[in-house]
Amino acid sequence: MNKNAIAEVKETIEKNIAEGNPYWNISPETAQYIISLLNTAEPKRVLEIGTSIGYSAICIGEALVAWDGTLITIESHDERFALAQKNIEDSTLENIIQVKGHAPEIFLNIEGTFDLCFFDATKYEHLSYFNALKERLNPGGIIITDNMISHNKELAEYKKTVEDDPQFESKLVDVGTGLLVSRKL
Ligand SMILES: C[S@@+](CC[C@H](N)C(=O)[O-])C[C@H]1O[C@@H](n2cnc3c(N)ncnc32)[C@H](O)[C@@H]1O
Repeated sequence: MNKNAIAEVKETIEKNIAEGNPYWNISPETAQYIISLLNTAEPKRVLEIGTSIGYSAICIGEALVAWDGTLITIESHDERFALAQKNIEDSTLENIIQVKGHAPEIFLNIEGTFDLCFFDATKYEHLSYFNALKERLNPGGIIITDNMISHNKELAEYKKTVEDDPQFESKLVDVGTGLLVSRKL
């Protein structure tokens, strides 16, 4: 891993974010919050839904190096998948596995359990991601869901379902577009 290469890729994407965020990447502040959560929880196996061009994936992958963790990240859009491939290659990070396809179908082809999931794709599908993945999340595992404040109406049913689930303890964090951080008990 080359720290300068990672910083260079992140800096280029952060310029895009500041100039209008055409690829809907999380904000650098949101990335910082997620990194601090990762540093506390030290998840070994992480799943991201919604790679876009790889900004959050690179931030997560960089943090995971410290405890030899792996990120699997899913993206369905051809052009964004290819841009992410280039960015991840340029970053020199080797612990990021990119998977191309529609997330609910991809889950069926990925085996094993996860320590942390980051939901950052189509909002109306979040409930189906939760239902498909909650039993595959290890005890103490975490689901982070983005856009919970910016899209609070669209995500109201999702929020209620997760908050009412006795297996989970959730808190809404007012950073970026709003994160719901849900820990499996
Ligand atoms: C908000 S962007 C992700 C931003 C990225 N996490 C970041 O912060 O750098 C959402 C991405 O999810 C992808 N997406 C939406 N629904 C999907 C699905 N069902 N399966 C895979 N990818 C999906 C979109 O193509 C889009 O690129």
